[in-house]
Amino acid sequence: MSAPAAMSPSAPSARQALPSSNPFERLAALIAGVEPGLDPLVMTIGEPRHAMPAFVGKVIADNLADFSRYPNIRGTDAFRAAVSGWLDRRYGLAGSLDAARGILPLNGSREGLTFAAVGVRDYLAAKGRVAPAGRAAVLMPNPFYQTYAAAAHLADAEFVGLDATRATGFLPDLDALSPDLLDRTLAFYYASPANPQGAVADLATWRKLIELARRHGFFIVADECYSEIYRSTPPAGVLEAAHAMGAGYANIVTVNSLSKRSNLAGLRCGFAAGDPDFLAAWSGFRGLAAPQVPLPLQAVAAAAFADEAHVAENRRLYNEKYAVAERILSPLFGAVVPEGGFFLWLDVARFGGGVEVTRKLWAQAGVKVLPGAYLALDGAAGNPGADYIRLALVDDAKTIETALSRVVAVLGG
Ligand SMILES: Cc1ncc(COP(=O)(O)O)c(C=O)c1O
Repeated sequence: MSAPAAMSPSAPSARQALPSSNPFERLAALIAGVEPGLDPLVMTIGEPRHAMPAFVGKVIADNLADFSRYPNIRGTDAFRAAVSGWLDRRYGLAGSLDAARGILPLNGSREGLTFAAVGVRDYLAAKGRVAPAGRAAVLMPNPFYQTYAAAAHLADAEFVGLDATRATGFLPDLDALSPDLLDRTLAFYYASPANPQGAVADLATWRKLIELARRHGFFIVADECYSEIYRSTPPAGVLEAAHAMGAGYANIVTVNSLSKRSNLAGLRCGFAAGDPDFLAAWSGFRGLAAPQVPLPLQAVAAAAFADEAHVAENRRLYNEKYAVAERILSPLFGAVVPEGGFFLWLDVARFGGGVEVTRKLWAQAGVKVLPGAYLALDGAAGNPGADYIRLALVDDAKTIETALSRVVAVLGG
């Protein structure tokens, strides 16, 4: 990404261009021509590598003939019933979310995140809420999952990064947002557990965000795709908070998927759930523009959302690796284990900062990590990712142990 200038939340500036290169391209350029010091161990990409559930092949085989059929954009009844059942069990919604209108299948949560802002813009415009010309905003944490910027770009809105640093608990500070900014906001992309930091919003934080959304008329686009990857306590969810508030799901859409929960990143299947009026309207647009989810894959999703055993095993494997990380890294870094997600977000400021340390780890140890700055926008207070590197704990425990031992040998030696 070519590091567009971040803006202070209260000071609108000119429309930004879409970031022109992604973090992985920037990393490739950073270490181009540098030979790895040891056999390469790649910790950059958040692609789950644990086993997928054993039933996937059989479910696809049982539904094979359905590959010949065009799926309906709204998903099968069985798909929506399975998601609805899972949401009820996971968040205690007690059947309060309308499964017919309040749930849509997605071709992975990324696809939904990409198109949600433009859907929200059109939905709000149809209700007469239009931001002043050129001033519509899409808010997102900074650092952030880069797709959020693409979503803002498609909606022709200014993307506004809200620094999520140690000082703010690694989540955007909701108390620092000006009414002017919130009044011109279409959508607030909010990730919990957060990527890269693994911070988790509690119920009170979700509640505050819902109150802001309803007061100022914007939508929360909650990215909860890491919701099942947690250490010990299941993260609270935005729908859970809304249900507890007792006023329905207006102004909320959350996305989730099978990618992290069920190690099925390549299956490309997820869902959007929330405001039934919005989702019904959005499905009209999606019926023209969005990729449908193939019927056999919706059948896999229905089976996957009905099963928690593989999810618990998945969590156990990640937690085993976090125990390894804590043991190896804590003498040098202190506490390193986040509440959720499968990344380490290591403060390497005293070793030269994220870019310098990334180059060094590759050159001296063959360990490939991602500089935190590549996941964030530059701002007036500097780049909130600059002091950090991100490491994905997706490999097996033995490989993680080797890689992290090398990190400590290079930085602590
Ligand atoms: C924060 C975050 N959101 C969304 C996604 C997209 O996931 P998928 O489209 O596979 O559901 C990812 C993938 O890495 C992610 O890290």
